[in-house]
Amino acid sequence: MTDSPNRFSVEGRVACVTGASSGIGRALATALAEAGARVVGIARRAEALEAWRAETDGETAAIPADLVDPAEAGEIARRAAEPFGDPEILVAAAGINTRQAADDVTLDGWRTTLDLNLAMPFFLAQALVPGMRAKGWGRIVTFASLQSERAFHGGLAYGASKGGIAQMTRAMAETWSRDGIMVNALAPGFFPTELTGPVFGDAERAAANAAQTCIGRNGEMDDLVGPALFLCSDASRYVTGQVLFVDGGYSAK
Ligand SMILES: NC(=O)c1ccc[n+]([C@@H]2O[C@H](COP(=O)([O-])OP(=O)(O)OC[C@H]3O[C@@H](n4cnc5c(N)ncnc54)[C@H](OP(=O)(O)O)[C@@H]3O)[C@@H](O)[C@H]2O)c1
Repeated sequence: MTDSPNRFSVEGRVACVTGASSGIGRALATALAEAGARVVGIARRAEALEAWRAETDGETAAIPADLVDPAEAGEIARRAAEPFGDPEILVAAAGINTRQAADDVTLDGWRTTLDLNLAMPFFLAQALVPGMRAKGWGRIVTFASLQSERAFHGGLAYGASKGGIAQMTRAMAETWSRDGIMVNALAPGFFPTELTGPVFGDAERAAANAAQTCIGRNGEMDDLVGPALFLCSDASRYVTGQVLFVDGGYSAK
């Protein structure tokens, strides 16, 4: 039995998607809008956000903003609620990978990575939770990684942020799920985006990654849409505090 005729529907929901100017955030912002959600996209590049808006069917709004300072989370949340009201869905996809190996990590690279990839998803969620709580319904999707569980060369700060995301997601779920707010992480395998340019730019490395999966290929953006809609809808109403690997079985081998 379900309360909704379509368990996977996001029709009429308000979604806030960070990182909507590029890659995974952009693809999921588009998918949510085309599935009937009203979507607020956030990233720094105003032109890229406008291009996303122009190409996307549905109700969308763009908020150009830098997300590197978690002290700004309250203000970002306030601006995110302006176009369509309080967001009930947060997809926190903005992220960077400085690719500094352990010997080369700078304090600046460390702080930027941890602030953007780990602190902002938490403080933005914290600022949006009162609006979700008032509606008795919310979905928060964070972004973990294969590096949440294993080390890759050049991934010191990135791996620290993604290991943190996995545990932080469980801790947010522990506190907020009783208010109807489910908190889960998507952990993509290798998907071609700006972030993974150096990986896909090396054909041998890309082929090795594809071979490591059970399916035998790297990710295509559409592979993430179903899992994301699942985590953003009623379909996931008894799923919380989980890290869902969408990696073609990379982590299973
Ligand atoms: N691609 C993969 O294979 C893969 C695998 C595992 C996990 N992930 C995770 O998935 C998420 C999306 O990654 P992606 O591959 O789609 O990367 P991407 O194409 O490089 O997109 C990153 C997004 O983050 C935004 N961003 C970066 N710095 C920002 C800042 N200071 N303020 C606001 N926005 C900022 C970028 O927008 P602006 O530059 O316009 O600000 C862009 O929209 C990340 O959390 C990443 O760690 C990706």
